[in-house]
Amino acid sequence: MPTSVSLEQGDINQSALRSEYHQHLSPETKKIIEEDAEVFLHQALSTPVMNALSKTEGAFIYDMNGKPYLDLHGNGVHNAGFSNAYVIEKVINQLKRSLAFTPRRYTNIPAIDLAKKLVSIAPAGLNRVLFCPGGSEAIEMAVMLAKQITGKWKTISFWDSYHGTGFQAASVGGEEHFSTGNGPMVPGSFHVEFPNYYRNPWGLANTDDIDEEYIRQIKIILHRHPDMSALIAEPISATPVVPSQHYWKEVQSLCKRYGMFLIFDEIIEGFGRTGKMFASEHYVTPDVLVLGKTLGGGLMPFAGIITKDEYNVLQHRSVGHFTHEKNPLCCTAGLATIEYIEANDLVENSAKLGDYLMDQLKALGETYPIIGNVAGKGLHIGVDLVKNKKTKERAVKEAEAIMYHCMQQGVAFKIIEGNIITMRPSLVITKDHCDMIVTALKNSFEKINL
Ligand SMILES: Cc1ncc(COP(=O)(O)O)c(C=O)c1O
Repeated sequence: MPTSVSLEQGDINQSALRSEYHQHLSPETKKIIEEDAEVFLHQALSTPVMNALSKTEGAFIYDMNGKPYLDLHGNGVHNAGFSNAYVIEKVINQLKRSLAFTPRRYTNIPAIDLAKKLVSIAPAGLNRVLFCPGGSEAIEMAVMLAKQITGKWKTISFWDSYHGTGFQAASVGGEEHFSTGNGPMVPGSFHVEFPNYYRNPWGLANTDDIDEEYIRQIKIILHRHPDMSALIAEPISATPVVPSQHYWKEVQSLCKRYGMFLIFDEIIEGFGRTGKMFASEHYVTPDVLVLGKTLGGGLMPFAGIITKDEYNVLQHRSVGHFTHEKNPLCCTAGLATIEYIEANDLVENSAKLGDYLMDQLKALGETYPIIGNVAGKGLHIGVDLVKNKKTKERAVKEAEAIMYHCMQQGVAFKIIEGNIITMRPSLVITKDHCDMIVTALKNSFEKINL
């Protein structure tokens, strides 16, 4: 059985540097990590774990010794901050009302209120909602809706993208890590490359030319497989690459021409992450918007889809049939989270501090050639580390070393594709937190003589 692990999703837990990092942990923490590894099924991206936590609050996670780390990953649930007091209070009040669950076939006020709120903030024309416990299931609902409505069953999505685990989500996802060894995945799942302006394979520099090449890949498939139900994508990739407006406008017009859905997965990018309430607002309105993570306020697992009224025609079917599809606690957490984001101008903060942090990182790149590229939108930023600015060879070993150095300095992040530092802090951060990130990186570069 082959046991090598791809670096597509992130840093892995089997490296020498991970073992070295563990040497510095306290005996109590080591014991907890060992106990965890004794009882949980081992997986490349989770168990054995990096560290154990005693608390998560605001933009920070805290280890067992109370050391805080500014968390630039947060698994995407922390847009309004971890353990948000406003959200917690609302959820506790809901618990005290003795309405923590409603069996299917019944509704409740929090569910209706959250659905109405989402419709009011979603791009115009998206006004029908369906909830479920997790993002992978929400992707499944979106694809099923597209298949049912169009009467077609093939899909196009993007290599290297992540849309969740399970057969449907991993089939439209483009990472082999989640499919190899599982036998046939969902048939008819076609993939193309996501636009990449910094690392396009043709060595092109002009955005329009690059877009044309990537759009051509979609056209080639559509020409041979016109029976497509949907194209599924994150509007901005996880790394992130920020496509041009032209790209998504063209893709949307192809979707219209071929009678297929455009599904935007905003499980990470929704709720202010990119400096707008929804990343779609930078581009076009999709047929289905998929939300998750922050929708549960970091307290509850919750996700869902918002789509158009004209697709409300499946009275005879059930594309989502989940025990917790109208869970009042999850809905209360979701509504309170959105209220908090709005009341505290977190979307604006994301846009403003995102620009500031990007500028600081670009300036750092002028002194340290390991920074090959800085890309992003709002507080959704990626720093592509290279061995050589010209060849753009990925600085994989260096990236991992930098990650552990930053951990020691109280800044935690995840690496994607082996060499890209991804920065998605809570939207409650301040300018000082941005400076803390830049200083931690600078110190790490100095420490390993870059
Ligand atoms: C873009 C994206 N889509 C879908 C998912 C799946 O969500 P969940 O883990 O809630 O199933 C994730 C989770 O990381 C994600 O980042």
